[in-house]
Amino acid sequence: MRNVKNPATKCNAKRMLSAGTRKPIVARTVPEIAYVNGEFVPLERAVVHVEDRGFQFGDAVYEVIRTYSGKLFSVEEHVGRLFRSLGAIDLRHSFTKEQLASLAGEGVRRSEFAEAVVYLQVTRGRAPRNRAIPGAYEPTLVMTVRELQPLPAEVLENGVKVITLPDNRWARCDIKSVTLLANVLAYHEARQAGAHDAILIEPEGTVAEGTAGNVFVFAGGRLRTPPKGPRILSGVTREKVLAAAAAAGIPTGEGTITKQELLGADEVFLTSTTAEVLPVTSIDGRNVGAGKPGSMARRVYEQFLRMYAGR
Ligand code: PDD
Repeated sequence: MRNVKNPATKCNAKRMLSAGTRKPIVARTVPEIAYVNGEFVPLERAVVHVEDRGFQFGDAVYEVIRTYSGKLFSVEEHVGRLFRSLGAIDLRHSFTKEQLASLAGEGVRRSEFAEAVVYLQVTRGRAPRNRAIPGAYEPTLVMTVRELQPLPAEVLENGVKVITLPDNRWARCDIKSVTLLANVLAYHEARQAGAHDAILIEPEGTVAEGTAGNVFVFAGGRLRTPPKGPRILSGVTREKVLAAAAAAGIPTGEGTITKQELLGADEVFLTSTTAEVLPVTSIDGRNVGAGKPGSMARRVYEQFLRMYAGR
């Protein structure tokens, strides 16, 4: 890994022109920081070359890590998954897990947020545009550190509506690739339909996951989630939620869930680093259970916070 050259710089408040209105606006002081190939820079000045393979081909993988009480949550698991993603696309690099974990920690320390969210992205570097993977390349390592924006309390309290959509992503969703166009379009379609998100349904009629989170259903007294494998990104939160549910005495299982089972479940929730445990109260316009967040989601979430967030 290249050495850190510059100290963190803050994006100071300054007058900016808003692109749409050309009206001067005053930006607040935001200590959002980025790190690009060895240098900490203010986020607004962080750039990657147009011939970077991450930009040209989406030839890149990433991770998202949040803090609880200012400390990175499950950083080893996230960095471990980043290494699995790097290995799966054969992106050769010389980083160690410890270097990436300590870089993320350094980013959090330099930012001054009560809670932060860290994105780590590694691309196959800069090369003249050609699909062939170069024999030698220098990976591009980018990190951003922003303030964690939790979902509004009323969203967590009231739950969210989702729609189901066909899963037309590629066959290696276990790789946390930056190529998220299918997720972006499904999310957009859900938002256009007035829903919070979409749950993606595999060609066989089984549940995969949300556009940015895993799916859990509670039915027949058991909490279930689709199995690990190439069809889903196996979430760090998913693992912790399974452990929290077990600790709370709730029977759990990993296995195929049909769309019918999803629609008939007593409770459904989504899990991810940023949304944690998000109850789903309506799917395709039909209530889930009583159409309100259920007691299992709450029990699991409370146990999750006790075990992992020290609350
Ligand atoms: N997304 N599935 C998909 C497709 C995801 O994008 C995510 C996370 C998850 C849950 O993974 P985890 O529990 O490790 O966050 C499942 C992150 C938050 C993102 O891309 O911003």
